[in-house]
Amino acid sequence: MQTIRALGELREAIAAWDGARVALVPTMGALHAGHMALVEAARRPGTKVVASIFVNPRQFGAGEDLSRYPRKEMADLRMLNEAGCDLVWLPGADDMYPAGFATNVSVSGVSAGFDGAARPGHFDGVATVVAKLLNQVRPHAAYFGEKDYQQLAVVRRMAADLDLGVEIVGVPTQREDDGLALSSRNVYLDDDERARAVALPRALGIAARAIARGGDVGGALDDARTTLIAAGFAVDYVALADAETLDADPAPDRPRRLLAAARMGQTRLIDNIAVE
Ligand code: PAF
Repeated sequence: MQTIRALGELREAIAAWDGARVALVPTMGALHAGHMALVEAARRPGTKVVASIFVNPRQFGAGEDLSRYPRKEMADLRMLNEAGCDLVWLPGADDMYPAGFATNVSVSGVSAGFDGAARPGHFDGVATVVAKLLNQVRPHAAYFGEKDYQQLAVVRRMAADLDLGVEIVGVPTQREDDGLALSSRNVYLDDDERARAVALPRALGIAARAIARGGDVGGALDDARTTLIAAGFAVDYVALADAETLDADPAPDRPRRLLAAARMGQTRLIDNIAVE
């Protein structure tokens, strides 16, 4: 596995693959089995897999966890190597945002609600860095976890709107045995918080099934909020949205997604589930 930290070298390494299909797995490191599922999905005969590791300051708001975000480069590289990744792209902050950098990619509509409302500027930061990573690597396909469902919708919209010519692939959320979605932020939970956090996927599952059976949407969302508060969460949102546009008032005949964000102590967790 090659590890590369300079853009010129990255371009040379990819050019040496002689037109092979290239798949990109963008990450911020602190890798876990959820990221390995992205690498696994990206691996195909004749495909070279590039993973990027860059903790993107532009997607963290003031007071968010940028400084304490887990950084584990050696362990990350070991995992990527074992997973069969071909190349790891490790840009530095100065290469990514050199002095004078003045461009912001902003995707309206799909970025507006939910985490976009709770974390102003977050999706501009994500769209800007993903646009840069896609231009640096120029992959045929890029892989994102469905756990960050709104991020996936934002990236899909951006890639389509800007004719980036890259296939954006969503990979199902990987979960612990009890249902908690894998996340780099789960390490912040102490034992008691970790035990109570399982209420999040459980409440979403119950609400999704009730809505799918034709139950009252408002009642199902209220019940989920009540369950989360009883478990000790401070709820940012529990909401039903159109699975593609993230419109907050989806037509019942459209694919729908239930989305939630809630804070357990200092740790903000997000999760989502299809309503089928
Ligand atoms: O999902 C993430 O890890 C990040 O938001 C991403 C897509 C790598 C952009 O920094």
